[in-house]
Amino acid sequence: MTQTLPQPQDVGALYDKLTLSAMRDGSFNTNVHIGYWDSPDSTATIDEAMDRLTDVFIEKLGVDASSHVLDLGCGVGGPGLRLAGRTGARVTGVSISAEQVKTANKLAAETGLSARAVFEHADALNLPFQDSSFDAVMALESICHMPDRDQVFREIFRVLKPGGRVVLTDIFDRYPRKEVRSPGIDKFCRDLMCTTADIDDYVPMLHRAGLRLHSIDDITEQSTLRLADEIEKLGGFEERPVAMDEGNFEFSEDAFKPGDLSGADDFGCLLAVAVRP
Ligand SMILES: C[S@@+](CC[C@H](N)C(=O)[O-])C[C@H]1O[C@@H](n2cnc3c(N)ncnc32)[C@H](O)[C@@H]1O
Repeated sequence: MTQTLPQPQDVGALYDKLTLSAMRDGSFNTNVHIGYWDSPDSTATIDEAMDRLTDVFIEKLGVDASSHVLDLGCGVGGPGLRLAGRTGARVTGVSISAEQVKTANKLAAETGLSARAVFEHADALNLPFQDSSFDAVMALESICHMPDRDQVFREIFRVLKPGGRVVLTDIFDRYPRKEVRSPGIDKFCRDLMCTTADIDDYVPMLHRAGLRLHSIDDITEQSTLRLADEIEKLGGFEERPVAMDEGNFEFSEDAFKPGDLSGADDFGCLLAVAVRP
């Protein structure tokens, strides 16, 4: 299966538009990610589940007030600010979207966290940081937008201090040998500029960069699959193309809508933790 590789400048433009559009239409959320439901009987709302995913990251990062954390693909800052507030760690976030960076720094000021959380416009494939700058890296739903995962992991290895860890989520084809994948996945990847990872190559890829695997979990049931169910329950929400922006986006009739992933159990989500030895 060939996938179109997202180009960072295009991803930046997409998130600029999504950010401005969400502010205009009132759907702005400080989290730009999926949720995490601990169990099938969890009654968490989507907003609660989004915060829960950040909290799972915080638990796995194991950082404290002496740590400096890189938030790779920081969105509008919600997760990084939550981490800074909860652990006292210093956070530097980077996003390829200038609008997101502006918004994240504004939120940091509004929440009194500017001294500990700073957001910069940068490309994860070529980070403007010296070697061994960070105690930990979090990449929450951002690597799927990057055209060269090997290069991203080399950069993560380079900027991590020895002993530092990276916690990340990524999307993957859960049934790689299935001939036809759910059409919603192709639409999602096309309109939100992502590629799915090759799960069989994930651990070798971390190792190629010099990182040592700590854990890798399939969290599809707790995240993407459940989110699609929750969106379906809301009804109507799925009728609106995700990236619609008052005419700035030219979407065809078959533009991706969240409901397109309903029941797509081949749309996998993984949560991995790796360490720079
Ligand atoms: C789905 S959002 C997740 C945002 C944030 N981690 C969160 O959970 O709210 C994806 C993020 O990845 C960022 N991103 C994508 N490609 C990037 C790149 N090449 N360099 C830096 N950031 C990138 C986007 O700008 C966006 O902030």
